[in-house]
Amino acid sequence: MTTDSLQIRSYRDADEDDVVRLWKSVFSNDPPWNEPTTVIRRKMDVQPELFLVAVLDGFVVGTTLAGFDGCRGWIHHVAVDPGARRQGVGSLLVREAAARLGEVGCPKLNLQVRDSNESAVRFYESLGFSVEDRVSMAQLLEPDAGRPMPQ
Ligand SMILES: CC(C)(COP(=O)(O)OP(=O)(O)OC[C@H]1O[C@@H](n2cnc3c(N)ncnc32)[C@H](O)[C@@H]1OP(=O)(O)O)[C@@H](O)C(=O)NCCC(=O)NCCS
Repeated sequence: MTTDSLQIRSYRDADEDDVVRLWKSVFSNDPPWNEPTTVIRRKMDVQPELFLVAVLDGFVVGTTLAGFDGCRGWIHHVAVDPGARRQGVGSLLVREAAARLGEVGCPKLNLQVRDSNESAVRFYESLGFSVEDRVSMAQLLEPDAGRPMPQ
């Protein structure tokens, strides 16, 4: 997908430095298992075509990681550089992820947002997502088992 000078496309190896920089700035409080180069390596092993970047004037200004487990599609790491926000970049990324998930037969798209992240909730609501009455549960798998879960 391309809109003027903004392009939404799958991640390429040459994007790594830009993506790591973006995630370190936007997700600075992430737990150790979300270390950027590790996430990139894992994602390139699983549905790499669903790792999307937004490129503006040759620089990565946004990302999302999407995946389909056969039942639900999930999106993670929706991030837009602070200097490129409120220009529709995040919306284009999520819409492209949804379109690609739909193409592989995914019937429903889920995501998680920390309840303190009100601006992200407003963002997803603007795209037609709604809050569901669910309890979000998690378990760390090896090698991170035993570490305290983040709040
Ligand atoms: C959330 C985020 C991805 C939005 O990206 P963006 O490119 O600025 O979003 P868009 O320009 O497509 O916004 C679309 C609409 O979402 C809503 N929205 C976006 N940011 C908002 C904010 N900070 N407060 C309230 N509403 C917001 C608005 O309705 C907006 O439309 P408008 O600009 O015409 O009013 C970006 O702010 C970001 O990277 N935040 C930090 C990372 C994060 O929290 N990611 C989500 C993790 S689950």
